[in-house]
Amino acid sequence: MGMKRIGVLTSGGDAPGMNAAVRAVVRTACEQGIEVLGIESGYRGLIENRMRELDIRSVSDIIHRGGTMLYSARCPEFKEEEGMQTAIANCKERGIDGIVVIGGDGSFRGARDLSLRGIPCIGIPGTIDNDIASSDYTIGYDTCLNTIMQMVDRVRDTVESHSRCVVVEVMGNRCGDLTLNSGIAVGATAIVIPEIRDDIEKHVIQRIRRTQKTDKKHFIVMVAEGIGGTEALARKIEKECKVETRAVILGHVQRGGSPTARDRVVASEMGYHAVQLLLQGIGNRVIVVRDDKIVDLDIYEALKMERSVNTELYKIAHEISI
Ligand code: ADP
Ligand code: F6P
Repeated sequence: MGMKRIGVLTSGGDAPGMNAAVRAVVRTACEQGIEVLGIESGYRGLIENRMRELDIRSVSDIIHRGGTMLYSARCPEFKEEEGMQTAIANCKERGIDGIVVIGGDGSFRGARDLSLRGIPCIGIPGTIDNDIASSDYTIGYDTCLNTIMQMVDRVRDTVESHSRCVVVEVMGNRCGDLTLNSGIAVGATAIVIPEIRDDIEKHVIQRIRRTQKTDKKHFIVMVAEGIGGTEALARKIEKECKVETRAVILGHVQRGGSPTARDRVVASEMGYHAVQLLLQGIGNRVIVVRDDKIVDLDIYEALKMERSVNTELYKIAHEISI
Protein backbone atom coordinates (compact mmCIF):
# COMPACT_ATOMS: atom_id res chain seq x y z
CA MET A 1 0.00 0.00 0.00
CA GLY A 2 1.23 3.49 -0.75
CA MET A 3 1.81 5.78 2.20
CA LYS A 4 0.65 9.32 1.52
CA ARG A 5 0.63 10.83 4.97
CA ILE A 6 2.27 9.79 8.22
CA GLY A 7 2.09 11.10 11.77
CA VAL A 8 4.88 11.57 14.29
CA LEU A 9 4.53 11.95 18.06
CA THR A 10 6.66 12.06 21.19
CA SER A 11 5.28 10.32 24.28
CA GLY A 12 6.18 9.69 27.94
CA GLY A 13 8.99 11.64 29.61
CA ASP A 14 10.72 13.97 27.15
CA ALA A 15 14.36 13.27 26.33
CA PRO A 16 17.12 15.35 24.66
CA GLY A 17 17.40 14.19 21.07
CA MET A 18 13.67 13.71 20.51
CA ASN A 19 13.71 16.85 18.36
CA ALA A 20 16.52 15.45 16.23
CA ALA A 21 14.42 12.31 15.68
CA VAL A 22 11.34 14.36 14.71
CA ARG A 23 13.46 16.36 12.29
CA ALA A 24 14.84 13.20 10.67
CA VAL A 25 11.35 11.71 10.33
CA VAL A 26 9.95 14.87 8.72
CA ARG A 27 12.86 15.43 6.35
CA THR A 28 13.06 11.76 5.25
CA ALA A 29 9.33 11.60 4.59
CA CYS A 30 9.16 14.96 2.77
CA GLU A 31 12.06 13.91 0.57
CA GLN A 32 9.97 10.89 -0.49
CA GLY A 33 6.92 13.02 -1.19
CA ILE A 34 5.07 11.90 1.95
CA GLU A 35 3.15 14.43 4.05
CA VAL A 36 3.79 14.57 7.77
CA LEU A 37 1.44 15.52 10.58
CA GLY A 38 3.02 16.43 13.91
CA ILE A 39 0.75 15.06 16.64
CA GLU A 40 0.94 17.16 19.79
CA SER A 41 1.37 15.87 23.36
CA GLY A 42 1.76 12.19 22.49
CA TYR A 43 -1.35 10.01 22.42
CA ARG A 44 -3.33 12.85 24.01
CA GLY A 45 -3.07 14.83 20.76
CA LEU A 46 -4.24 11.79 18.83
CA ILE A 47 -7.37 11.58 20.98
CA GLU A 48 -7.97 15.34 20.99
CA ASN A 49 -7.19 15.71 17.28
CA ARG A 50 -4.35 18.17 17.87
CA MET A 51 -2.14 17.83 14.81
CA ARG A 52 -0.39 20.15 12.40
CA GLU A 53 1.34 19.77 9.07
CA LEU A 54 5.12 19.73 9.22
CA ASP A 55 7.27 20.60 6.22
CA ILE A 56 11.04 20.55 5.85
CA ARG A 57 11.44 24.09 7.18
CA SER A 58 9.17 23.57 10.18
CA VAL A 59 11.87 21.40 11.76
CA SER A 60 14.71 23.87 11.20
CA ASP A 61 16.72 24.96 14.24
CA ILE A 62 15.57 22.18 16.56
CA ILE A 63 18.40 19.65 16.27
CA HIS A 64 20.29 21.26 19.15
CA ARG A 65 17.31 21.73 21.47
CA GLY A 66 16.31 19.57 24.41
CA GLY A 67 12.66 18.76 25.13
CA THR A 68 10.33 18.16 22.22
CA MET A 69 8.77 20.66 19.84
CA LEU A 70 5.74 18.34 19.61
CA TYR A 71 5.23 18.37 23.41
CA SER A 72 4.86 15.12 25.31
CA ALA A 73 2.37 13.64 27.74
CA ARG A 74 1.26 10.58 29.59
CA CYS A 75 -2.28 9.76 28.53
CA PRO A 76 -4.03 7.03 30.54
CA GLU A 77 -7.24 7.39 28.44
CA PHE A 78 -5.37 5.95 25.48
CA LYS A 79 -5.07 2.61 27.28
CA GLU A 80 -8.89 2.37 27.35
CA GLU A 81 -10.73 1.04 24.29
CA GLU A 82 -12.82 4.21 24.05
CA GLY A 83 -9.76 6.47 23.89
CA MET A 84 -8.09 4.14 21.41
CA GLN A 85 -11.16 4.17 19.13
CA THR A 86 -11.33 7.97 19.19
CA ALA A 87 -7.64 8.08 18.26
CA ILE A 88 -8.20 5.66 15.38
CA ALA A 89 -11.20 7.64 14.10
CA ASN A 90 -9.06 10.80 14.13
CA CYS A 91 -6.28 9.02 12.23
CA LYS A 92 -8.79 7.92 9.58
CA GLU A 93 -10.30 11.39 9.31
CA ARG A 94 -6.85 12.95 8.91
CA GLY A 95 -5.73 10.32 6.40
CA ILE A 96 -2.85 9.09 8.56
CA ASP A 97 -1.44 5.88 7.03
CA GLY A 98 1.22 5.23 9.68
CA ILE A 99 2.80 6.77 12.78
CA VAL A 100 6.30 7.09 14.18
CA VAL A 101 6.12 6.93 17.99
CA ILE A 102 9.13 8.28 19.89
CA GLY A 103 9.04 7.24 23.56
CA GLY A 104 9.62 4.43 26.02
CA ASP A 105 8.18 0.96 26.65
CA GLY A 106 4.74 2.30 27.57
CA SER A 107 4.58 4.26 24.34
CA PHE A 108 5.59 1.12 22.42
CA ARG A 109 2.64 -0.73 23.97
CA GLY A 110 0.41 1.98 22.56
CA ALA A 111 2.14 1.64 19.18
CA ARG A 112 1.58 -2.12 19.27
CA ASP A 113 -2.12 -1.65 20.03
CA LEU A 114 -2.53 0.85 17.19
CA SER A 115 -0.68 -1.43 14.75
CA LEU A 116 -2.98 -4.27 15.79
CA ARG A 117 -5.97 -2.10 14.88
CA GLY A 118 -4.74 -1.29 11.40
CA ILE A 119 -2.52 1.77 11.85
CA PRO A 120 1.08 0.68 11.25
CA CYS A 121 3.40 2.20 13.86
CA ILE A 122 7.15 2.27 14.26
CA GLY A 123 8.65 2.87 17.71
CA ILE A 124 11.84 4.82 18.35
CA PRO A 125 13.35 4.49 21.85
CA GLY A 126 13.44 7.94 23.44
CA THR A 127 13.98 8.13 27.19
CA ILE A 128 16.79 9.27 29.45
CA ASP A 129 16.46 6.05 31.47
CA ASN A 130 18.06 3.57 29.02
CA ASP A 131 15.52 1.07 30.33
CA ILE A 132 14.34 -0.49 27.09
CA ALA A 133 15.38 -4.13 27.10
CA SER A 134 15.40 -4.56 23.33
CA SER A 135 17.78 -1.67 22.69
CA ASP A 136 21.33 -1.21 23.95
CA TYR A 137 20.73 2.53 23.80
CA THR A 138 17.90 5.02 24.17
CA ILE A 139 17.89 8.58 22.82
CA GLY A 140 18.59 11.06 25.61
CA TYR A 141 20.67 8.76 27.79
CA ASP A 142 24.08 10.16 26.84
CA THR A 143 23.00 13.77 27.32
CA CYS A 144 21.48 12.95 30.68
CA LEU A 145 24.56 11.04 31.82
CA ASN A 146 26.77 13.99 30.99
CA THR A 147 24.42 16.41 32.73
CA ILE A 148 24.51 14.31 35.91
CA MET A 149 28.29 14.21 35.74
CA GLN A 150 28.53 17.99 35.38
CA MET A 151 26.08 18.60 38.22
CA VAL A 152 27.86 16.22 40.58
CA ASP A 153 31.27 17.67 39.68
CA ARG A 154 29.90 20.95 41.02
CA VAL A 155 28.54 19.30 44.12
CA ARG A 156 31.97 17.76 44.64
CA ASP A 157 33.58 21.21 44.88
CA THR A 158 31.44 22.17 47.85
CA VAL A 159 31.48 18.73 49.46
CA GLU A 160 35.26 18.71 49.33
CA SER A 161 35.52 22.24 50.73
CA HIS A 162 33.42 21.26 53.76
CA SER A 163 34.69 17.70 54.22
CA ARG A 164 31.15 16.45 53.88
CA CYS A 165 29.32 13.51 52.43
CA VAL A 166 26.63 13.96 49.80
CA VAL A 167 23.97 11.46 48.83
CA VAL A 168 22.88 12.22 45.27
CA GLU A 169 19.55 10.82 44.11
CA VAL A 170 19.56 10.11 40.38
CA MET A 171 16.43 9.84 38.23
CA GLY A 172 16.02 6.78 36.08
CA ASN A 173 12.76 5.12 37.00
CA ARG A 174 13.54 1.55 38.08
CA CYS A 175 16.71 1.35 36.02
CA GLY A 176 20.16 1.84 37.56
CA ASP A 177 22.11 2.56 34.35
CA LEU A 178 22.29 6.34 34.85
CA THR A 179 23.30 5.94 38.49
CA LEU A 180 25.91 3.27 37.87
CA ASN A 181 27.57 4.98 34.93
CA SER A 182 27.48 8.47 36.38
CA GLY A 183 28.71 7.00 39.66
CA ILE A 184 31.82 5.73 37.92
CA ALA A 185 32.24 9.00 36.03
CA VAL A 186 32.23 11.09 39.22
CA GLY A 187 34.32 8.65 41.27
CA ALA A 188 31.57 7.89 43.79
CA THR A 189 32.51 6.06 46.98
CA ALA A 190 29.31 4.00 46.81
CA ILE A 191 26.65 3.34 44.19
CA VAL A 192 23.21 1.99 45.02
CA ILE A 193 20.97 0.68 42.22
CA PRO A 194 17.66 -1.21 42.26
CA GLU A 195 19.01 -4.20 40.30
CA ILE A 196 21.62 -5.08 42.96
CA ARG A 197 20.17 -5.01 46.42
CA ASP A 198 22.85 -5.69 49.00
CA ASP A 199 22.12 -4.61 52.52
CA ILE A 200 22.10 -1.03 51.29
CA GLU A 201 22.87 0.84 54.49
CA LYS A 202 25.51 -1.64 55.54
CA HIS A 203 27.12 -1.57 52.11
CA VAL A 204 27.32 2.23 52.00
CA ILE A 205 28.40 2.70 55.59
CA GLN A 206 31.04 0.00 55.38
CA ARG A 207 32.49 1.58 52.27
CA ILE A 208 32.65 5.05 53.80
CA ARG A 209 34.24 3.74 57.00
CA ARG A 210 36.81 1.82 55.02
CA THR A 211 37.88 4.93 53.10
CA GLN A 212 37.89 7.01 56.30
CA LYS A 213 40.64 4.69 57.54
CA THR A 214 42.83 5.82 54.62
CA ASP A 215 42.10 9.43 55.48
CA LYS A 216 39.36 10.18 52.98
CA LYS A 217 37.41 13.24 54.11
CA HIS A 218 34.65 13.75 51.56
CA PHE A 219 32.32 11.23 50.00
CA ILE A 220 29.89 11.01 47.11
CA VAL A 221 27.16 8.37 47.30
CA MET A 222 25.02 7.90 44.19
CA VAL A 223 21.56 6.42 44.74
CA ALA A 224 18.99 5.54 42.08
CA GLU A 225 15.54 7.08 42.59
CA GLY A 226 14.04 3.58 42.46
CA ILE A 227 15.66 2.86 45.84
CA GLY A 228 13.85 5.57 47.79
CA GLY A 229 14.76 6.91 51.24
CA THR A 230 17.57 9.24 50.12
CA GLU A 231 17.18 11.66 53.04
CA ALA A 232 16.98 8.81 55.57
CA LEU A 233 20.16 7.30 54.17
CA ALA A 234 21.91 10.68 54.51
CA ARG A 235 20.87 10.89 58.19
CA LYS A 236 22.07 7.35 58.83
CA ILE A 237 25.47 8.04 57.23
CA GLU A 238 25.84 11.21 59.29
CA LYS A 239 25.16 9.31 62.49
CA GLU A 240 27.12 6.14 61.82
CA CYS A 241 30.11 7.65 60.00
CA LYS A 242 30.26 10.92 61.94
CA VAL A 243 30.44 13.03 58.80
CA GLU A 244 28.17 15.96 58.00
CA THR A 245 25.91 14.76 55.19
CA ARG A 246 23.59 16.44 52.70
CA ALA A 247 21.05 14.90 50.34
CA VAL A 248 20.75 16.26 46.79
CA ILE A 249 17.92 15.25 44.49
CA LEU A 250 18.83 16.12 40.90
CA GLY A 251 15.29 15.63 39.55
CA HIS A 252 14.19 17.11 36.24
CA VAL A 253 17.39 19.13 35.81
CA GLN A 254 18.70 15.86 34.43
CA ARG A 255 16.15 15.70 31.65
CA GLY A 256 16.75 19.04 29.93
CA GLY A 257 19.52 20.61 27.92
CA SER A 258 21.02 20.48 24.48
CA PRO A 259 21.52 16.90 23.23
CA THR A 260 25.05 15.53 22.86
CA ALA A 261 26.43 14.57 19.46
CA ARG A 262 25.71 10.93 20.18
CA ASP A 263 22.04 11.57 20.87
CA ARG A 264 21.65 13.73 17.77
CA VAL A 265 23.31 11.15 15.55
CA VAL A 266 21.42 8.11 16.90
CA ALA A 267 18.13 10.03 16.78
CA SER A 268 18.75 11.07 13.17
CA GLU A 269 19.58 7.52 12.10
CA MET A 270 16.58 6.08 13.88
CA GLY A 271 14.19 8.66 12.45
CA TYR A 272 15.43 7.89 8.95
CA HIS A 273 15.07 4.11 9.42
CA ALA A 274 11.59 4.41 10.89
CA VAL A 275 10.32 6.20 7.78
CA GLN A 276 12.02 3.67 5.49
CA LEU A 277 9.98 0.91 7.14
CA LEU A 278 6.70 2.81 6.90
CA LEU A 279 7.41 3.52 3.21
CA GLN A 280 7.45 -0.23 2.67
CA GLY A 281 4.12 -0.52 4.46
CA ILE A 282 5.82 -2.23 7.42
CA GLY A 283 4.47 -1.50 10.92
CA ASN A 284 4.59 -2.93 14.42
CA ARG A 285 8.38 -2.64 14.60
CA VAL A 286 10.78 -0.82 16.89
CA ILE A 287 14.11 0.62 15.82
CA VAL A 288 16.85 -0.39 18.25
CA VAL A 289 20.61 -0.35 18.71
CA ARG A 290 22.10 -3.81 19.03
CA ASP A 291 25.85 -4.44 18.93
CA ASP A 292 26.41 -0.91 17.63
CA LYS A 293 24.06 -1.40 14.70
CA ILE A 294 20.66 0.16 14.09
CA VAL A 295 18.19 -2.66 13.41
CA ASP A 296 14.44 -3.20 13.76
CA LEU A 297 12.48 -5.76 15.76
CA ASP A 298 8.87 -6.86 16.10
CA ILE A 299 7.25 -4.83 18.91
CA TYR A 300 5.78 -7.94 20.59
CA GLU A 301 9.19 -9.60 20.66
CA ALA A 302 10.89 -6.40 21.82
CA LEU A 303 8.45 -5.93 24.71
CA LYS A 304 8.99 -9.51 25.88
CA MET A 305 12.73 -9.01 26.36
CA GLU A 306 14.23 -8.58 29.80
CA ARG A 307 16.92 -6.17 30.82
CA SER A 308 20.06 -7.19 32.63
CA VAL A 309 22.37 -4.94 34.56
CA ASN A 310 26.11 -4.77 33.88
CA THR A 311 27.33 -6.51 37.04
CA GLU A 312 30.94 -6.36 35.87
CA LEU A 313 30.73 -2.56 35.71
CA TYR A 314 29.21 -2.48 39.20
CA LYS A 315 32.09 -4.59 40.49
CA ILE A 316 34.70 -2.39 38.80
CA ALA A 317 33.08 0.78 40.16
CA HIS A 318 33.44 -0.39 43.73
CA GLU A 319 36.83 -1.98 43.26
CA ILE A 320 38.38 1.36 42.21
CA SER A 321 36.43 3.69 44.49
CA ILE A 322 38.55 3.24 47.56
P1 ADP B 1 7.17 5.64 28.41
O1 ADP B 1 6.74 5.58 27.00
O2 ADP B 1 8.27 6.63 28.65
O3 ADP B 1 7.46 4.26 28.99
P2 ADP B 1 4.63 5.68 29.83
O4 ADP B 1 4.79 4.31 30.40
O5 ADP B 1 4.11 6.76 30.69
O6 ADP B 1 5.99 6.27 29.26
O7 ADP B 1 3.70 5.54 28.54
C1 ADP B 1 3.41 6.65 27.72
C2 ADP B 1 2.01 6.54 27.21
O8 ADP B 1 1.89 5.37 26.40
C3 ADP B 1 0.95 6.35 28.28
O9 ADP B 1 0.56 7.56 28.87
C4 ADP B 1 -0.18 5.76 27.46
O10 ADP B 1 -0.85 6.75 26.72
C5 ADP B 1 0.57 4.86 26.52
N1 ADP B 1 0.61 3.49 27.05
C6 ADP B 1 1.33 3.04 28.10
N2 ADP B 1 1.07 1.74 28.37
C7 ADP B 1 0.16 1.35 27.47
C8 ADP B 1 -0.53 0.12 27.20
N3 ADP B 1 -0.31 -0.96 27.96
N4 ADP B 1 -1.40 0.10 26.20
C9 ADP B 1 -1.63 1.19 25.44
N5 ADP B 1 -1.02 2.37 25.63
C10 ADP B 1 -0.14 2.47 26.62
O1 F6P C 1 11.18 8.20 32.22
C1 F6P C 1 11.83 9.41 32.45
C2 F6P C 1 11.64 9.86 33.88
O2 F6P C 1 12.33 11.10 34.04
C3 F6P C 1 12.10 8.87 34.94
O3 F6P C 1 13.50 8.89 35.12
C4 F6P C 1 11.34 9.34 36.14
O4 F6P C 1 11.10 8.27 37.03
C5 F6P C 1 10.05 9.84 35.55
O5 F6P C 1 10.28 10.06 34.17
C6 F6P C 1 9.54 11.12 36.17
O6 F6P C 1 8.32 11.42 35.63
P1 F6P C 1 7.61 12.87 35.74
O7 F6P C 1 8.27 13.74 34.71
O8 F6P C 1 6.19 12.58 35.40
O9 F6P C 1 7.84 13.37 37.11
